[in-house]
Amino acid sequence: MCGIVGYTGNLQAASIILDGLSKLEYRGYDSAGIAVLNEKGHTEVVKAKGRLQNLIDKTDSGKAIKGTCGIGHTRWATHGEPSQINAHPHVSSNSSDISSDNNSEVIGVHNGIIENYLEIKEKLANSGYQFYSQTDTEILIKLIDYYYNKYDHNPLSAISHSMIRVKGSYAIEVMFSDYPEEIYVARKDSPIIIGLKDDASFIASDVPAILKYTNSVYYLDNMEMARITKGHAQFYNIDCKEIEKEVTQIQWDAQTAEKGGYQHFMMKEICEQPKAVRDTLNSLIKDNQIILNEKLNIDSEYIKNLNKITIVACGSAWHVGMIGQYVIENIAKVEVRVELASEFRYRNPLIKKDDLIIVISQSGETADSLAALRLAKQSGCHTLAIVNVVGSSIAREADNVLYTLAGPEIAVATTKAYSAQLVSIYSLAVCFGYIREAFDEDKYHYYVNELLSIPEKIDKILENKERIQWFAFKYSNARDAFFIGRGIDYGISLEGSLKFKETSYIHSEAYAAGELKHGTISLIEDNTLVIGVLTQSHLYKKTISNMVECKTRGAYLMGLTNYGNYQIEDTSDFTVYIPKLEENFAGSLAVIPLQLLAYYVSVSKGIDPDKPRNLAKSVTVE
Ligand code: G6P
Repeated sequence: MCGIVGYTGNLQAASIILDGLSKLEYRGYDSAGIAVLNEKGHTEVVKAKGRLQNLIDKTDSGKAIKGTCGIGHTRWATHGEPSQINAHPHVSSNSSDISSDNNSEVIGVHNGIIENYLEIKEKLANSGYQFYSQTDTEILIKLIDYYYNKYDHNPLSAISHSMIRVKGSYAIEVMFSDYPEEIYVARKDSPIIIGLKDDASFIASDVPAILKYTNSVYYLDNMEMARITKGHAQFYNIDCKEIEKEVTQIQWDAQTAEKGGYQHFMMKEICEQPKAVRDTLNSLIKDNQIILNEKLNIDSEYIKNLNKITIVACGSAWHVGMIGQYVIENIAKVEVRVELASEFRYRNPLIKKDDLIIVISQSGETADSLAALRLAKQSGCHTLAIVNVVGSSIAREADNVLYTLAGPEIAVATTKAYSAQLVSIYSLAVCFGYIREAFDEDKYHYYVNELLSIPEKIDKILENKERIQWFAFKYSNARDAFFIGRGIDYGISLEGSLKFKETSYIHSEAYAAGELKHGTISLIEDNTLVIGVLTQSHLYKKTISNMVECKTRGAYLMGLTNYGNYQIEDTSDFTVYIPKLEENFAGSLAVIPLQLLAYYVSVSKGIDPDKPRNLAKSVTVE
């Protein structure tokens, strides 16, 4: 959602904060702001609507703001429209005056949502507070100010009392003008990390913002606070008692989180897929044996006696679940359900003790997925998280965690994390199927070899990206697109269609091919783009028939199928072939041309594919 950065040390804070914010812009980008506190307790706040670049220009890349302790924020609006006044930081005084010499000022930024903000607003208004913005954050900062005055100007008491009083989710970063050179942070359900290096301290809502400076980070847990000074951090629980925390070493380097010569992160991440998939498979397969169960310490008896697997996720991770449903049932012979986390959490699901709940999430912070995980845990069943971000909330709260090794993913539209999730699910299907004796050893080795061949085959598809580029430019003015397929191909269509619509702004739908005739076919007219996905041989003829039905109504057909199915050219107007692979795993290959198509259409329309409008990478509100 939004991004938080903070710095206290001996250098000028503003440029370090702006640099950190630029690495977090993918989390939200309708406005941004910065506040710097100098050693005399003087605060300067500068905000700008729109892209971060506006704030960078306004502050002469930070040079115009002097001081060595500061906080910054990129906002993605929830309460109150995107505007300069609603942008963070917010202050405890009665106006958002951009430069303030007030005594005892509280200045803060916030990620998340304060659900009971109206009730708190009323309470504060009765105590004489006035409000200048429409945000819940301003109310939170004023609440901290209220308790700060009530509890002897003690920052920790003020923050902990506010935490007890508010409902919702938050990561907060606060400065008190009485305490120059110090920053206070707290969290509930929204991530915040602290990195230390020599006599400097860095704060961020995500690792890429501070990787350039340090690899040693502390993750703040729910209902914890920290007092951060130059090169030091002290941690506290909600009772203001000091607690010890362990440092985590981040293995990514700063360069891995940068564009590395590509025009966009999305293309860089598409091209990183062979590596992301290879690294993930190598962590799960040793000496041609899948070691997933050993790695996760899951008992074979438990796997043999599993009643049902429920996969819960949002967005593309849910699409991985949709494909996983077919693959796990086909290979491991276990019943699988797939649920949207936002639905699952509110529908009193029937969960048995011998069910396994798998939560899939790139960020490990998606609010609905986290809530679904907590609900599953309450039922007493076993929970497994498939997560990319180490130390994220979902990773820490699940009984087991399987990390995808995709590295930092910056583009809003996921590509490499999706691919790494997919091969994790395939490995789980083969591992569980073998333990459950669903197939023999020969078949087991066949599956493992096919899995290991995926990275190279993705590379082959990427070598031919120019063909897709040509097609994308030709079809970039399309008004609608329909992605159709059956079974696993329907799962692939869902992801292809989502990528297409989110990066190109062209209306697009994915349909189970056989369902098209129950209404949606009425939308097909001359030149409507229909993309048929046909990787499953037993469904090939059925989907071809559905494509013909569309063609008869004037559709322009693109076919996506395996090498060898050349007769498709009798039907489709443009065909993309993918290398042969065990058909259960075909999603890993078929998705690549569809990602490329989405990327190239986006670029040809002049859209920034890394930051599609209205979207955020990490959705930490429900
Ligand atoms: C957002 C992203 C999607 C992602 C979804 C779930 O909508 O734009 O790419 O699939 O959230 O995120 P998660 O981090 O839980 O995988």
